[in-house]
Amino acid sequence: MRFDVITLFPELVHAVTASGVVGRAAHADLINLHCWNPRDYTTDTHRTVDDRPYGGGPGMVMKPDCLVETLQAVKSSNKTAGITTKVIYLSPQGKPVKQSALQTMSQDQGLTFLCGRYEGVDERVIELEVDEEWSIGDYVLSGGELGAMVFIDAITRLLPNVLGHQESAEQDSFSDGLLDCPHYTRPAVFAEKSIPDVLKSGDHQRIARWRREQALGRTYQRRPELLEKKNLTKEEQQLLQHFLKKTP
Ligand SMILES: C[S@@+](CC[C@H](N)C(=O)[O-])C[C@H]1O[C@@H](n2cnc3c(N)ncnc32)[C@H](O)[C@@H]1O
Repeated sequence: MRFDVITLFPELVHAVTASGVVGRAAHADLINLHCWNPRDYTTDTHRTVDDRPYGGGPGMVMKPDCLVETLQAVKSSNKTAGITTKVIYLSPQGKPVKQSALQTMSQDQGLTFLCGRYEGVDERVIELEVDEEWSIGDYVLSGGELGAMVFIDAITRLLPNVLGHQESAEQDSFSDGLLDCPHYTRPAVFAEKSIPDVLKSGDHQRIARWRREQALGRTYQRRPELLEKKNLTKEEQQLLQHFLKKTP
């Protein structure tokens, strides 16, 4: 999958492919990251990318000319490579992103992220060149770079052959509308706390049932609104009842 990021701080965004799962995916060519600096598409000697807002007020606005030039260069590069890309503007005013949207995006050939800075980008850039606006949460960051990195990380781990065990992404929180179950590793007793016996039983069916019950119970306790959206099977309802009976 190809990711293009339009940013004034390419070195910041490149850090997402420097280590861990995303680093390995980039090394194995499962993803390709290209950063584009709008300063390279300016025409004045100072390489100006921002200007004062019309109507007055604080802060600066990213200029439309260099951004549109950059976006057109990105689109043309993708076209030459035979890749269809979708332009996403990271914005606190965008739709709040969810795992299900990221799962859909992981099917795309390419995604282009436009990172704003200052007060944001001239509105006409959004009208002319942007396909979708997404937010990573109800708070305001100084720039879209961390948002682009969140998308790249979360999407990359959903791509085939990226995670060692394919099912580990499928069992993660939100992938089927529930939170994940608790996890334990050795030693079996730590700080006088033992792991649940069932996990040592070797009975895979019982373990799978226990994990499902924990996922249902945790979701009920921590994110009850997720359960309201989910149609639980009869077995899942029984597992949840069992969890609630044991839990004060
Ligand atoms: C300081 S913010 C501008 C905020 C803008 N004036 C507003 O209030 O809607 C600068 C840039 O950071 C990015 N950004 C800030 N918060 C974000 C969020 N929650 N999700 C995604 N991008 C965000 C956007 O690209 C934005 O253009």
